[in-house]
Amino acid sequence: APAGDLTGLRVVVSAGGTREPIDPVRFIGNRSSGRQGVALAAAAARRGARVTLVAANVEQAVLAPGAAADVVPVGTTAELADAVHTAAASADVVVMAAAVADFRPALTPDAKIKKVPGRPPAPIELVENPDILAGLARDRRRDGQTVVGFAAETGDDDGDVLTHGRAKARRKGADLLVVNAVGERLGFGAATNEVTVLDAAGDVVAHASGSKDAVADAVWDAVAKLRSS
Ligand code: C5P
Repeated sequence: APAGDLTGLRVVVSAGGTREPIDPVRFIGNRSSGRQGVALAAAAARRGARVTLVAANVEQAVLAPGAAADVVPVGTTAELADAVHTAAASADVVVMAAAVADFRPALTPDAKIKKVPGRPPAPIELVENPDILAGLARDRRRDGQTVVGFAAETGDDDGDVLTHGRAKARRKGADLLVVNAVGERLGFGAATNEVTVLDAAGDVVAHASGSKDAVADAVWDAVAKLRSS
């Protein structure tokens, strides 16, 4: 990647996965390690950007490569939204690599939910979280700000994954959507990744595979190209 090609840019990267409390000791979460987001933050810093990394439940050992970024640790989707909105207010590029919970428990009791012998478990009612990415792209975008989303898709083949990705690219309104297939051995937690980058119309602008660092550089290449066009 061209050294310093992002110099002067302020970027925000969200990484990891949000956790929604069920009670004080339990949560609904996901398998995102934060590695791809941390790699994106590190690559942007290497290329000269000033980086804020909003890290949702990312382990300290995973965070280390992103040391050149200002790190804002968050837990829930509401905390992630606050931190991203604050940082995005002065950012040129926002990359939403975090796996954000689509739903959260409607109620979070102050006390641990107890098992009552002979009684069936109470259902957990869920409510929808706001879509942070769509909100950034549609309602909050600053002049000249580039908004990038990620989409982890499951599908029986690459065609399915791309079809879902295309629909999502159009729906979310982001400038770029980075689509990857997730499954038993792909994506979450793995060292390598394989992605297709779509533009807002759902057309393919780049394809990258390899280490999460290589994928990160390919994403920044696509961002740099879009911003210079
Ligand atoms: O719709 P889906 O969750 O697959 O979209 C993934 C993209 O949207 C990611 O960039 C993720 O960070 C973002 N997202 C969000 N707010 C949500 C759900 C997803 O910003 N509530």
